[in-house]
Amino acid sequence: MKYEVLSIFPDMVDSAFRTGVTGRASGEGLIELDTVNIRNYSTNSYGSIDGYTYGGGAGMLMQCEPVYQAYLEALKRLERKHGEVRVVYMTPVGEVFSQKKAEELSKEEELIFLCGHYEGIDERVIDEIVTDRISIGDYVLTGGELSALVVMDAVARLIPGVLKNDESAETESFNTGGLLEYPQYTRPPEWHEKTVPDILVSGDHAKVDKYRMREMRRVTKEYRPDLYTAYMEERGIY
Ligand code: ADE
Repeated sequence: MKYEVLSIFPDMVDSAFRTGVTGRASGEGLIELDTVNIRNYSTNSYGSIDGYTYGGGAGMLMQCEPVYQAYLEALKRLERKHGEVRVVYMTPVGEVFSQKKAEELSKEEELIFLCGHYEGIDERVIDEIVTDRISIGDYVLTGGELSALVVMDAVARLIPGVLKNDESAETESFNTGGLLEYPQYTRPPEWHEKTVPDILVSGDHAKVDKYRMREMRRVTKEYRPDLYTAYMEERGIY
């Protein structure tokens, strides 16, 4: 997987990506990241890439041309033509990101992320280049870099070899038929007068499986009643 990120803060994306699991995976050549600084494509002598909004309204908008030129740089590096690579625009006005979407994106060989700032980006360039508009939730961030990193991380961990223990991508929340993951414990067996549930140290694997299933239902019902209802409905339990 190769990521290209179009941003006015490329260092922010680069440094976060180089840390931890994604950093290791890029060192191993499993994923690659390149960034394009949109500011390099300012069309004026001040180096600005934003302008006032037609029709009025607070704040500034990112202009078409710097964004478009940054996109062309990314395409050139990927040796691709316009329309051959999906371009993901990070915006609160988009489809809410999900594990399903991460799975879909992980099948691509390359992805271009467009990170907006100020009050957003001129709609014309979005129309011209963007294939997917993704929001990471119903709140507004100062820019698209953090949200792009969220999507890049969720997609990266689905790429074979990125996670060392292949199983962990399988059994986690959202891959368990719509239930959240059960609580887990490690040594010591007692901490702050809290003990590990007896069943987990019993060595009875069938009992452990049943217990974990019960716990998955319990935590889902408690923290995500919406997911719990969907899970029950899917099984015809009302
Ligand atoms: N940019 C600003 N807010 C965002 C959000 N909620 N999701 C994705 N990109 C964003």
